[in-house]
Amino acid sequence: MENAPISTHPIRLRVNGRDVMVDAAAQTPLLYILRNDLELNGPKFGCGLGECGACAVLIGDRAARSCTVPLSAVGDRAVTTLEGLGDIDNPHPVQQAFIAHNAAQCGYCLNGMIIATVALLRRNPRPTETEIRAALRHHLCRCGTHLEILSAVRAAAMLSAASASNSSGDDP
Ligand code: FES
Repeated sequence: MENAPISTHPIRLRVNGRDVMVDAAAQTPLLYILRNDLELNGPKFGCGLGECGACAVLIGDRAARSCTVPLSAVGDRAVTTLEGLGDIDNPHPVQQAFIAHNAAQCGYCLNGMIIATVALLRRNPRPTETEIRAALRHHLCRCGTHLEILSAVRAAAMLSAASASNSSGDDP
């Protein structure tokens, strides 16, 4: 017996500031559309089970594991991938911190580490060490680059705290 064909239909997404239309089944994982249809390869396929964090993206201001988010759950919320944060000529401050602290070996986990850090600093511009570790604890790195990654996140957090102080008019 043949399997019933999967029905697809046009779905609108807002990705990295652009509206895009994709033709897909509503249950398709967001990660598949980002990588295969939109050629955004910042988010990585690691476990495919929501456990490693390699596929993280921002949905609104929150980090989400795009391998477990069906298209139907995205709705009108803006999706931001690593590519939407910055580029090689104009990197996001968190990306700059990761470069400055040599926080990469194979680089596979970096997408998730950076997305998680951006989400953390958006909701909490002055995270404590405990809060930083809690935000990253479910992002797996198999190379053992944890010390450099933590240094980069601390540096990004210092910049974020300074920026929050400047915009709130706090004393220096
Ligand atoms: Fe999505 Fe591992 S690939 S959490």
